[in-house]
Amino acid sequence: MKEKIKEIIGKMTLEEKAGMCSGQDTWRLKSVDRLGIPTVMVADGPHGLRKQEAKGDNLGIYDSIKAVCFPAGCAVAASFDKELLEFMGGLLGEECRAEGVSVLLGPAINIKRSPLCGRNFEYLSEDPLLAGILAAAYVKGVQKHEVGTSPKHYAANNQEHRRMTSSSEMNERTLREIYLTAFETVVKESKPWTVMSSYNKINGEYVGESYRLLTDILRNEWGFDGFVVSDWGAVDLRVQALKAGLDLEMPYSDGSGDRDLIEAVKNGKLDEAVLDKAVERILNIIFRYADARGKDAEFDCEKHHGYAAHIAKKCAVLLKNENLLPLSRKSKVAYIGPYAQKPRFQGGGSSHINAHKVVGAYEAASNTPAYAQGFAADGKPLSEEEIKLAVETAKNADVAVIFAGLPDSYETEGYDRSHMRLPDSQNELIAKIAEVQPNTAVVLHLGSPVEMPWIDKVAAVLNMYLGGEGCGEAADALIYGDANPSGRLPETFPLRLEDTPCYLDFPGDEKVYYSEGTHVGYRYYDAKNMEVLFPFGHGLSYTDFEYSDLEFSADKISDGEKITVSVQVKNTGNFEGEETVQIYTDSAQNKYRRLAGFKKQNIKPGETKTFEIELDMRAFEEFDERLSDWFCEKDVYTVYAAHSSRDIRLEKQIKINTTKTFNLNVNRNTTLGQLLDHPATKEATSALLAKMGAAVSKGEEVSEEVRQMLRGMALSLPLRSLPSLGFASREQIDGLTAQMKALEEKFMQKENK
Ligand code: BGC
Repeated sequence: MKEKIKEIIGKMTLEEKAGMCSGQDTWRLKSVDRLGIPTVMVADGPHGLRKQEAKGDNLGIYDSIKAVCFPAGCAVAASFDKELLEFMGGLLGEECRAEGVSVLLGPAINIKRSPLCGRNFEYLSEDPLLAGILAAAYVKGVQKHEVGTSPKHYAANNQEHRRMTSSSEMNERTLREIYLTAFETVVKESKPWTVMSSYNKINGEYVGESYRLLTDILRNEWGFDGFVVSDWGAVDLRVQALKAGLDLEMPYSDGSGDRDLIEAVKNGKLDEAVLDKAVERILNIIFRYADARGKDAEFDCEKHHGYAAHIAKKCAVLLKNENLLPLSRKSKVAYIGPYAQKPRFQGGGSSHINAHKVVGAYEAASNTPAYAQGFAADGKPLSEEEIKLAVETAKNADVAVIFAGLPDSYETEGYDRSHMRLPDSQNELIAKIAEVQPNTAVVLHLGSPVEMPWIDKVAAVLNMYLGGEGCGEAADALIYGDANPSGRLPETFPLRLEDTPCYLDFPGDEKVYYSEGTHVGYRYYDAKNMEVLFPFGHGLSYTDFEYSDLEFSADKISDGEKITVSVQVKNTGNFEGEETVQIYTDSAQNKYRRLAGFKKQNIKPGETKTFEIELDMRAFEEFDERLSDWFCEKDVYTVYAAHSSRDIRLEKQIKINTTKTFNLNVNRNTTLGQLLDHPATKEATSALLAKMGAAVSKGEEVSEEVRQMLRGMALSLPLRSLPSLGFASREQIDGLTAQMKALEEKFMQKENK
C-alpha cells in the first residue's frame, strides 16, 4: 500500500496534490479518476450519522438521512463504561459502513470548563482522564469496522462565543494536564485515523497553524499517524496551516486555499515535499477505507433503536431518591410535562440527527399514567387553567413524575447559555406541584447542569441527560425498576453559576483567560471545600454497595511500571445493580484529588466482586514546567477508592520510585526552600539551615515554635540575601552558590547516564 501511494503521488500534478488537501464539497474529498483515487465521504457524528445527501451544511440546518440517534456525549460519559462506549462505537461503525461514510466526525472531547458552553451536551466530561478513556473506547469501536474517527476539537475549544477567533490563554501545565490529556489518551490508545483541529487560538496562535501542537506534540510526542482535518471553515492562512501539519482543509475555500498552496510551491515558499507528505497521509486513509469495501454492512434500524434504549438506561443518573423510586406499576401515577410525550433527547447544531423514531416515556409506559402538560417546551406561557390542571392532576395521583429539561434553544452549537437555570415556567411548576404532592419525582432532559431551587422539596430526581431516541423507553424501565440506575455524573452540578471556577473569565472575548488553571470542575470545588449540588462521580442506585480490602499488586511503583489496585465490593441490597469504583490520587501541586481510574461491574444481591484497576505513573505525575515533563513531586501518595469524588470509602498509601528529576539551574536567586526540595542539594542545604539556626539562637535552647518560625522564614530566602542578614559574606555566598551548582551538575550528570 505504501508503495502504491508513493507511486500515485509521483504521478500527481501539483494542482492535483493541492486539490487533495481540501474538500470537493461540504462532505466529500476529491477524487482523481485517472489515478484511481476514489471520492470518499465524511459525516457528523458523534452520537449518530448525520449524512446529508443533497445540500450540505455544518450547522445542522438542512436535513440528513434518517438514522439512529444514540445518547449524546453528556449521557454516554455518565455511563463510566468503557465497554459500552466501544459497543456504541461499533454500532456507529456498522452504520457508517452501510451508508458509505469513511470517517465519522467524533468523538467530541473538549473539557467542560464552564457549564454554560453551548456544546457541553456533546462533550464528555470536566475530567480529562474520564474523557480520554471513554473516547478511546468509542474510537476503537468505530474503527473496528475500518471506518475512521476524528476526535475533536483539538484543542481548548471550550466555548462557542467567538469560537473562530478567540484565544484560550493558559499556562503549559494547564494545557497539558487538563486540555490536551484526553486527546493524548485517545491518540496513544486507539490510533484515530484523523484528528480535527479546532477553530480557536491558544496563547495567540491558531491551533490550525501551530507546528508545536500539530506536529511536535500530536505526531512526534504522541505518535499520531493519521491526517489532521480542520474544523469546518477554520483555516485562516492555508500555507502556514499546511506547514504546521494541517493536512486537509474542510470543507473547501472556493479553491483559494489550493491556489495558495500551488503558488507557494512555485515561488519556493513551500517545500513540495511537505505537500507530498500531507497528500500521503490523506491517501493512506482514503485507501484504507476504500480497500475494505468488501466489509460493507447492512444494519437494522429497529435493532439499533433497541440498543440506543439499552445504552440510555446505563447512562441515566439517579441524583436524589428519598425512598420514592422505583415506582410500582400499580400506583396511580401522573406524568406532567411535554417531555413525557416528546422527550428532549439531543442538542442542536452539527451533531443533530434526523432520528428514525423517538419513543416518549408516556408511550413506553404500560400502566397508562394520567397526563398534563404543565409547561410548554418552547417556553411560551400556558394559561392559568392549564397550569392548575397540571397541579390538580399531580395532586390527585399517588405519585407525580415531572418531565422537565432545557429547551432546544438553550443548548446548541454556535452560542453559549447565559445562565444556568431551567425556564422559570418549569421551576415554578415543580415548586407548585411539590407543595401539594410529597411523592414528586423530577426526570431531567438536559445536556449540562442546572440550578435546582426546588431540590429539597422533591423526593427524587432522575437525570436522563440527552439520552437519544430510546430515552423514553429507558426512563420507563428505570422509573419502575425494570432497570437499576447506574450512571455517575461526569461533571459537577454546582449550586449556582457564581460558584463555577471560571465565572469571572467566561466567556471572555478576544482573549479568554483560563485563570483558574488546573482548577477545573471538581478539582476547584474540592480545593476550596465548597458545597455543591451534586459532586462529580455522584449517582445513586436502588441497591447499596459496601467496599473493603483496598490492595495494591506492589507497595511501590517505578517509572514505566504499572500496579493493579483491587477493591472488593459487595451488593448489600436487594436489587441487582452496577457499581462504578472510582480511584482518585492526590495532587502534589494543589489541594485536590483527581480521578486516576475507574471500573464498572454488575453485582447480584449478596454477591461480592473484585474490581481491578491498573494505574501507571501518570496516575501520580503532574506536568512540571521546570522539567517540561510529567513528574511525581512526592515520595508517597494516597490512593482513594470511592463511590464519588465526595464519597471516599477506602484509602491507602503507595511509594513512588522515580529517577526523574528537574534542573534547578542554581544561581544567586535560588531560594533555600528550592535547594532543600532538590535531591542534589538537600543534604548541603539542611546543614546550612542548621548552621543558620545555631547562629540565630547563639547556642541557646529555642522552643520548637521558634524553630519552626525561623525555618519558615529561611526557606523563602534566596542565596543572595544571606549577606544582608549577616549569615555570610558576599564572597562566601558566591562560593556557596558555586558549590550548590556543582552538586546539582554532578547529580544531573549521574541521573542522565
Ligand atoms: C463543528 C464540527 C463538525 C463540523 C462539520 C463544525 O461547525 O464544529 O464539530 O464536525 O462543523 O459539521
